[in-house]
Amino acid sequence: MAERVLIVEDEPDLRYVLTRQLRGDGYELDTAVDGEDAIQKIQQNEYAVIITDMNMPRKDGLSVISAAREFLPEAEVIVLTGHGSLENALQAFKAGNIFEYLLKPLDDIGLLNTLVARAIERRNLKRHNRQLFEQLQQAYEELKQKSEMLVQNEKMSAIGTLAAGVAHELNNPLTAVVGFAQILQEKLKNNRPLNWSEDEYQRVLTAVENLVQGAHRSRDIVGSLLRYARVSRADVRSLVDIHQVLRDAFVFTEHMLLRHGIALQKQFAPDLPQVWANPSRLQHVFTNLLLNAQQATPSGGTVTVRTERLEDPKGVWVHVEDTGCGIPEEDLPHIFEPFFTRREDGTGLGLSIVRQIVEEHQGEIRVWSEVGKGTRFSIFLPATEVYQLTPPETPSIEAQSA
Ligand SMILES: Nc1ncnc2c1ncn2[C@@H]1O[C@H](COP(=O)(O)OP(=O)(O)OP(=O)(O)O)[C@@H](O)[C@H]1O
Ligand SMILES: [Mg+2]
Repeated sequence: MAERVLIVEDEPDLRYVLTRQLRGDGYELDTAVDGEDAIQKIQQNEYAVIITDMNMPRKDGLSVISAAREFLPEAEVIVLTGHGSLENALQAFKAGNIFEYLLKPLDDIGLLNTLVARAIERRNLKRHNRQLFEQLQQAYEELKQKSEMLVQNEKMSAIGTLAAGVAHELNNPLTAVVGFAQILQEKLKNNRPLNWSEDEYQRVLTAVENLVQGAHRSRDIVGSLLRYARVSRADVRSLVDIHQVLRDAFVFTEHMLLRHGIALQKQFAPDLPQVWANPSRLQHVFTNLLLNAQQATPSGGTVTVRTERLEDPKGVWVHVEDTGCGIPEEDLPHIFEPFFTRREDGTGLGLSIVRQIVEEHQGEIRVWSEVGKGTRFSIFLPATEVYQLTPPETPSIEAQSA
């Protein structure tokens, strides 16, 4: 596309001479008869070079130069003036991008062709630099996002390892606590110590009952932590019972929901097929969704987790639904983007990691939401029968030769 050049000159003869001089150089030439006319054209067209007179009726050359700087910051200006003074020149250079300051009459009008060509070169170079700078900035932003996600994933796996260590250490003493609590309960149930009143005896029985329950719950939590941490590598997969993954996620989240006055409803479908997955990654998915649901739902609300089997394609749907504040329509396209958050202490990484994990499992995630009513996240995980028949540790001959 030809570069556009604007010639601003109120003197018709000179305007004609300048136009004729540049006509053969392949530019798209435009003329303006005064400052006002020039400013209008500058606002509407993409000029590469503007050649302007200084003294003109209806807005002078300085106004043209300022308009060029405002609307076409990369354009180069060549000043052609009959009133050259140091002061005028300084004013012009202060007002904008002056490439050259020439005095009328021009001794050698052929100089104009060279100057315009050089001005265009400089303008294109500036433009190229700006584009490079923008690309660089974009690359930097992307790199920053990726590195922050890496750090976050790294932190998560560090926490996982720590949790596994603690869980492992707790396992032995806990087994003892559970066992002794049960023995104590059985012994006490059968005979009341003689020196205890009936009232005292009943109170101790209730306390021991709580002890047994608490010990069982602690053992469940430790078990979930161990299962969660055991397969922390993203690519380790096995046949997974989604209900077990959900129960493990509840161990971490149910008490938190209850503490916030939110009821947790579980509607588990019978005969759910197993999926080929990484259970700890999936647990991460549901824990995140439950955490988000809790953060969005006021006291008195309900969070429902429902599973559903699908025949074609074979797989499992898990719906996590809340009666919370809902997501505004304009937010919906962004919630899976890394660092998108509406919460003051949020990192905005939760859902982006959720989506990443679901995609790793060739699954699908959908969201439905209505402001003031609630939100439902639905996750589909395919039950890949091929894998169920051929565990990947011993690939079949067909699979190897394929
Ligand atoms: N169940 C929900 N109800 C209403 N809004 C939600 C729900 N889940 C997510 N959102 C919206 O999507 C945003 C992004 O969620 P995401 O889990 O990615 O980040 P976060 O919860 O803000 O921070 P983080 O999970 O890192 O602590 C939230 O800030 C919130 O605005
Ligand atoms: Mg979150």
